[in-house]
Amino acid sequence: MTDAQKAQEDHDLHDPTAYGARIADDYDRLYTDTLDTEGAVALLAELAGAGPVLEWGVGTGRLAVPLAQRGLAVHGLDSSPDMLDRLHTKPGGERVRTSQGDFECAHVDGGPFALAVLAFNTVFALPSQDAQVRCFQNTARHLAPGGRFVVEAWVPQPERFDAKGEAVLLRHLSEDHVSLDVARIDPVTQRMQTTQVSLSDGQVRLHPANHRYAWPAELDLMARLAGMALEHRWADWRKAPFTEASAGHVSVYRLSGPAVGR
Ligand SMILES: C[S@@+](CC[C@H](N)C(=O)[O-])C[C@H]1O[C@@H](n2cnc3c(N)ncnc32)[C@H](O)[C@@H]1O
Repeated sequence: MTDAQKAQEDHDLHDPTAYGARIADDYDRLYTDTLDTEGAVALLAELAGAGPVLEWGVGTGRLAVPLAQRGLAVHGLDSSPDMLDRLHTKPGGERVRTSQGDFECAHVDGGPFALAVLAFNTVFALPSQDAQVRCFQNTARHLAPGGRFVVEAWVPQPERFDAKGEAVLLRHLSEDHVSLDVARIDPVTQRMQTTQVSLSDGQVRLHPANHRYAWPAELDLMARLAGMALEHRWADWRKAPFTEASAGHVSVYRLSGPAVGR
């Protein structure tokens, strides 16, 4: 199969606008307070220096808006017009330059960037290893020499799934809101199909998301293929040490020389 045919197959398996179409109107309620947004913004601002910053999969601007409010030039790209609409109507949203496209291959003006960000597991939204490799290469093309790429992702934990590869995982529990991930993995393709079930106040919402997951070491190799090297890996945005028990990671890659894979 040629590279062009493989790329076409990846896209046939994956509609990058689907996630946003289902979740945009609920996204900020679900995630602004349940994720460590404050810690993420503080660390990204520290790593960005004087900027500019590029966020792939900017979504509703949960990170991009406060970063721009700190005075950084921020460009956000997203495939979903619904998520970008949310960002544009938010106070401070006008400070973020945006464009619609696919971070696997899109070109964004305003670089070279000091920092690129791919937060909240969004690297796994790309449907295959090849697509993820292309994303790292595309990121390298947008970075200044010495520029950084921050990837936040979960660490695969196959032991949380039963013998059929299925699991129900509790994401959030409070008196008026319960959120569950109902998931199935395929260990051969490293794909996970999930639907997040959100129950609150007589309302049930279903938010599907499909991931092609990867262990941190595989992401490190993708970075190396793109001319980047791992500079830091923490367990969270507050720089907690990454250990064998960590469920997620914040990894910082640094571009050493000119971008590879131009
Ligand atoms: C989980 S949300 C994260 C949003 C934001 N970065 C945050 O941390 O709150 C993932 C976002 O990535 C976007 N996305 C998914 N695949 C994409 C792709 N291939 N190209 C561009 N955006 C994509 C989705 O539309 C969605 O807005």
